[in-house]
Amino acid sequence: MGSVEQGPVTVIGGAGRVGRRIVRRLLERGVPVRVTSQDVRRAGRTVPDGVPLEHADVRDAATLAGPLDGCRAVVFSVEPGSASRGPDRPETTMFQGVRNVLDAAGAAHLVLVSQIYVTRSDHPMNGSGRLLDWRLAGEDLIRAGGSPYTIVRPSWLTDTRGSGQAVRLEQGDTGDGRISREDVADACVHALWSSAAIGTTFEIYNVAGPSDTNWDQLFAQLRPDPEGTGSTIRARQNGGR
Ligand SMILES: NC(=O)c1ccc[n+]([C@@H]2O[C@H](COP(=O)([O-])OP(=O)(O)OC[C@H]3O[C@@H](n4cnc5c(N)ncnc54)[C@H](OP(=O)(O)O)[C@@H]3O)[C@@H](O)[C@H]2O)c1
Repeated sequence: MGSVEQGPVTVIGGAGRVGRRIVRRLLERGVPVRVTSQDVRRAGRTVPDGVPLEHADVRDAATLAGPLDGCRAVVFSVEPGSASRGPDRPETTMFQGVRNVLDAAGAAHLVLVSQIYVTRSDHPMNGSGRLLDWRLAGEDLIRAGGSPYTIVRPSWLTDTRGSGQAVRLEQGDTGDGRISREDVADACVHALWSSAAIGTTFEIYNVAGPSDTNWDQLFAQLRPDPEGTGSTIRARQNGGR
C-alpha cells in the first residue's frame, strides 16, 4: 500500500509544465489537490478551477506552513534559478528550499523531481551556480531524513509522448537520453501509490518499446536507497566540501 489513502496532495510548482500534468492526473484519480505558486494570479490561468491555489516560495519557510499543513504527500517540481549569487542561485531552491519543505511536510511522502547528471559534477550544467551539486545536496537531505520519499531524476524533458515509446528506469546516474513530461508526471503520481517506490532514487528515460507502462513492475525492479544515506552530507561530515 502506498502513502496516499486520503487527504490532499500539495504540488509545489503545480502550475509548471510537469506540475500541471501531475495535478491533472491526481484530479482524474479523485484525489484532493493543492497547488502552490509564487504568483497565484498567473498560476490561476493554468490550474484547473476548483483547485485550491496558495502562495508559496520554497526559499521562504514561512510561506510553506499553510499549504503543507495536513497534506498526505508533497510533490516538489521546482525549476531552480541559475544565478551564481543572490536569491536565484540553485542553492536557494534545490537545497534550502528542499530543507524548508522537509521541515514543513512532516511525515508526508515527498516526491522530488530532480534530474540526471546530479552525481556528475564535471558536467557543464554544474557551471550554473553549481546546480548539480546543490541538487544532489538536496536529494541527500531527503535520503538522510526519516520520512517516506521518492526521488525521480528525469533525463532531458520533452513535451510529447510518442507512440512506441516505453519507459525505462535506471539507478546509478550513468545514462543519457530524453523523457516526456507526461511520463515524468505518471512516475510521480504512481509513486504515491507504490510501496516499492518509497525510499528509492531513479533516473527515467524513454526507450523504444510498448507504451503501456506497468509502473508496479518498473518500481518492483528498483533497489531501495541504502538507509539513512546522504553522500554529500557524509562527505561534509568527513571534512569534504
Ligand atoms: N528541462 C529539462 O530538460 C529538465 C530535465 C530534467 C529535470 N528537469 C527539472 O524538472 C522539473 C520540472 O520541470 P518543468 O519543465 O515542469 O519546469 P517549469 O515548467 O519551469 O515549472 C517549474 C515550476 O517551478 C516553480 N518555482 C520556481 N521557483 C520556485 C520557488 N522559489 N518556489 C516555489 N516554486 C517555484 C514555478 O512555479 P511558480 O512560478 O508558479 O511558483 C514553475 O511553475 C524542474 O525541477 C526541472 O529543473 C528539467
